[in-house]
Amino acid sequence: MKGIVLAGGSGTRLRPLTGVVSKQILPVYNKPMVYYPLSVLMLAGIRDILVVSTPAHLEMFQRLLGDGSRLGLTLDYAEQKEPRGIAEALVIGADHIASDEVALILGDNVFHGYGFSELLRTTAADLDGCALFGYPVQDPWRYGIAEVDADGRLLSLAEKPSAPRSNLAVTGLYMYDNDVVDLARDLAPSARGELEITDVNRAYLEGGRARLVQLGRGFVWLDTGTHDSLLEAGQYVQILEQRQGVRIGCVEEIAYRMGYISAEDCLRLAHEQAGTEYGDYLVGLVEQSRERPGAAPVFHSLHKTL
Ligand code: DAU
Repeated sequence: MKGIVLAGGSGTRLRPLTGVVSKQILPVYNKPMVYYPLSVLMLAGIRDILVVSTPAHLEMFQRLLGDGSRLGLTLDYAEQKEPRGIAEALVIGADHIASDEVALILGDNVFHGYGFSELLRTTAADLDGCALFGYPVQDPWRYGIAEVDADGRLLSLAEKPSAPRSNLAVTGLYMYDNDVVDLARDLAPSARGELEITDVNRAYLEGGRARLVQLGRGFVWLDTGTHDSLLEAGQYVQILEQRQGVRIGCVEEIAYRMGYISAEDCLRLAHEQAGTEYGDYLVGLVEQSRERPGAAPVFHSLHKTL
């Protein structure tokens, strides 16, 4: 499965913070925002990832993340000239997707929860059509909304409905089979002039090939769209990291634990950030696994910490 991180848009709601900086580079506590969605794709086992952003901001992501080899990834970059809709990322990314399946994630979505990595991998492995991830919210008119029956089967999808049929938001993580490339190419822009991701999802639903995975109480899905929600997301990460001594969305740790990079590679990344708590954390991680070789940095231990 390939990955796409969509990190464009104009970030108008976060002005003046986004006057010269991409929204998805802004800090969520101690890391750039894009680390969080990138880490989700990495946890799903995806290593070949396209980052899509605006012509003005793309270079910032390139400078931050490079070609991905330091994290054992292959990262490519593509421009979205205007914010013409989330589904346009699938058209821009058509060559990158090629004949593969794809997971698309919005660069401003933060997920965290027990067992999330396991859930990601099983959902990707069982993919038939499209998989969406639902999360209960108090303000459903702000999101794509899913209606489900008593067995959790998807009945309808609506984008920012004025009269929502449920409080189940469709989060900004989508997994698709290869049909999505043609589907996205054939989309017509909506009344607001965008290629709507909800139209893509509805096409799968109408074909009986859309599944909604509900993220329950043990999960957190955070918004970073306003000054308050951005601050709250940072506070959430801060509290958990300080209380538990773990890191959320630490791409170096995930690369190491997933076996994408060696202990030496991880130490090299740690030394580049020497003298910071972040660097010390990475050193501690490698030392711990060397002291307890049985507790190898494998996936199973992941969902306890990430
Ligand atoms: O976060 C989940 C929600 O994301 C879903 O529930 C909705 O169904 C989906 O439409 C989307 O709603 P938003 O109101 O959050 O969409 P927004 O236009 O703000 O775009 C979300 C992110 O994607 C934002 O960081 C900017 C980026 N983006 C958006 C568009 C339309 C792009 O990079 N390019 C675009 O063309």
